[in-house]
Amino acid sequence: MKLLHIDSSVLGPHSVSRQVSAAIVARLREASPGLEVTYRDLDDSPLAHLSGAHLAVAQGAPAAPELQDDLAAGQHVLEEFLAADIVVIGAPMYNFTIPTQLKAWIDRILVARKTFSYSGGAVQGLAGGKRVIIAISRGGFYGPDTPMAVGEHLESYLRFVFGFIGITAPEIIAADGIKFSPEHREKAIASALAAVTTLQAA
Ligand SMILES: Cc1cc2nc3c(=O)[nH]c(=O)nc-3n(C[C@H](O)[C@H](O)[C@H](O)COP(=O)(O)O)c2cc1C
Repeated sequence: MKLLHIDSSVLGPHSVSRQVSAAIVARLREASPGLEVTYRDLDDSPLAHLSGAHLAVAQGAPAAPELQDDLAAGQHVLEEFLAADIVVIGAPMYNFTIPTQLKAWIDRILVARKTFSYSGGAVQGLAGGKRVIIAISRGGFYGPDTPMAVGEHLESYLRFVFGFIGITAPEIIAADGIKFSPEHREKAIASALAAVTTLQAA
C-alpha cells in the first residue's frame, strides 16, 4: 500500500501542520509496517505556477525547451498522486486559505480526464478510491458560530477540491487557535496529536 505525504508550511521546524502530518504518517506506519511512503516537501521543492505556456502545451502546442523540466515535474506529481492509496497533507492557513505552494500542487493534480471528467454537463471525480487525511493548522478560530467563519477558505476549499475529484470524505485533523497564546498553541497541538491516535490503521 502506498502513502504520499505532502507538507506545505513555510515554517520548517516551527510548523504545526508539519508536526501533525508527521504524527499521522508515523501512526499509520506503526499500524501497517509494510506501508510504502513517499515524501514531498512543497516548500523545499516548490512547483512553478501554471502559465499560459503550460496551458498551450496541454492543448497540444509544442513544449518550449525551457518548459520541459517543469512539465516533467508536473507529470511526476500527478503520477505520484494517482499511484497513492493514502494521501496525508499538512495544510496551514495563510491569509485565510492554503499556501501558494499547495495551490501550485493542486493545479497539477486537478487534470481533466485524469482526476475528473465532465459527462453530460455533470462532473465526475475519478480519484475516489483514495483515503485523504489533512492536518490543518490555523492561527484563529473559524467554527460555524464564530465571527470569522465567513473567512474560512482553507478547510472548506480543500473539502471542495477533493470532493470535486471524487474524494468526498477527507479526514481532517485541525489545530486551531495557534496564534491566540502559547497555552492555546500547546492545547491545540496536544488535541490534534490525540486525534491522530484515533485514526484507523491503513
Ligand atoms: C504568512 C502567514 C499568514 C497567516 N494567515 C493567517 C490567517 O489568515 N488566519 C489565521 O487564522 N492564521 C493565520 N496565520 C497563522 C497560521 O495559520 C498558524 O501559525 C499555523 O500554525 C500555520 O501552520 P504552520 O505552523 O504549519 O505553518 C498565518 C501565518 C503566516 C505565517
